[in-house]
Amino acid sequence: MNKGYFISFEGSDGVGKSTQIKLLESYLKDLGHELLVLREPGGTQISEAIREILLDKNNAKMSESAELLLYEAARAQLCEELIKPALARGVTVIADRFYDSSLAYQGFGRGIDLNEVQSLNEFATGGLKPDITFLLHLPNSLSRKLIDHEADRLELAGEEFMSRVQTGFLEIAKAEPERIKLIDASGSKEEVFSRIIAELPC
Ligand code: TYD
Repeated sequence: MNKGYFISFEGSDGVGKSTQIKLLESYLKDLGHELLVLREPGGTQISEAIREILLDKNNAKMSESAELLLYEAARAQLCEELIKPALARGVTVIADRFYDSSLAYQGFGRGIDLNEVQSLNEFATGGLKPDITFLLHLPNSLSRKLIDHEADRLELAGEEFMSRVQTGFLEIAKAEPERIKLIDASGSKEEVFSRIIAELPC
């Protein structure tokens, strides 16, 4: 089967994922890869509509379980509509966040049982896993981004929440060292990118 390669990027808010994804996109294009670059939550019309609900500051009353289910719904749609068909065609897929974010934010961050989050991840993706995940890590990662834009609902959850998310990501990476590559996100964008390239099998 001509299966494409699936890459995801993870990390706390503001660690510079978008910059690194752009660099990787042009690097892989130059190598001749056909590419699909997506963000979570989002990527399809339905998932982008769910994203609006999730990030809207006016939805302060959203329950934690509703939040988790909305992320999973957006993910389920994205997997079915775009990611699985692209991989089946041999396309390389780069996702700006995937299910590890639900484990870090809703599991470790909100405190929802980790096994519950894992089963919902499994249900939403139908068992699809990234081939490789880059976890961008900054020791004190709050945050390059918060400085220059208005905070969304998740970013308003507070420093303790963000620190649990950060610890969560490190735990998740420890549990799956084969798939998840921990990348030091400090230094120039070129330095960070060279650490990513060093981990790429292609
Ligand atoms: P976004 O603006 O895309 O943030 P970033 O650039 O940091 O990726 O907003 C996505 C937010 O949603 C971000 O705060 C992380 C959060 N999130 C979850 O809480 N759970 C999830 O499963 C996913 C995919 C994202």
